[in-house]
Amino acid sequence: MFSAVRAGKQINLSDAERATLQIINSISEKGLAAWLDDVRRYHEGTFQHCLLVTGVAVGFALEIGFASLDVKRLGIAATLHDIGKAHIPLLILDKPDRLDPDEEEIMRRHPVIGHELLKDIADISPEILDGVRHHHEFLDGSGYPDGLKAPQISDLVRLLTISDIFAALIESRPYRPAMPRQRAYSILRGMDGKLERSLVKAFRNVALVA
Ligand SMILES: [Fe+2]
Ligand SMILES: [Fe+2]
Repeated sequence: MFSAVRAGKQINLSDAERATLQIINSISEKGLAAWLDDVRRYHEGTFQHCLLVTGVAVGFALEIGFASLDVKRLGIAATLHDIGKAHIPLLILDKPDRLDPDEEEIMRRHPVIGHELLKDIADISPEILDGVRHHHEFLDGSGYPDGLKAPQISDLVRLLTISDIFAALIESRPYRPAMPRQRAYSILRGMDGKLERSLVKAFRNVALVA
């Protein structure tokens, strides 16, 4: 999907659906730990990240008893959440160091770009668009791109944001090694006010046990 977008082609939603259903099946049958092991075999950063976020989000949705339609919606939103990065220059995307403020500003455009890429696709659900655009929003209004506050942030987005942060922390980056799951979870615990406390609590079983 990333290379299609880079080549200026249309996104095929059924590709995203098919990929997501495979991830849901794998996690329902074999659990999240097996999925994490599988995904670590891929080295291309953004691809690995999207697979990881989807696995974590699906594991989370199953853990808190989401209905299957919602598991699927969250899973597809997770598969597509960073699709806007396909239009971020590779020099920024693959930079081996931390981004400087100008690069950070460009990187922060990816949720809006992703939303733009997807919004005219027939049959795409509003929940998926919401997830793609708002996965970097925080309950206290300090996130981006729209500076939403708690009442405007849906449950699906709240789960996606927690899954995204956790997945990013347990991935290795060129400038830092992967963090143990325990430590990544304690960082989420420290983000009180930004993430929903009861959801972070429920996430414990996904982060540390699953
Ligand atoms: Fe993102
Ligand atoms: Fe992400």
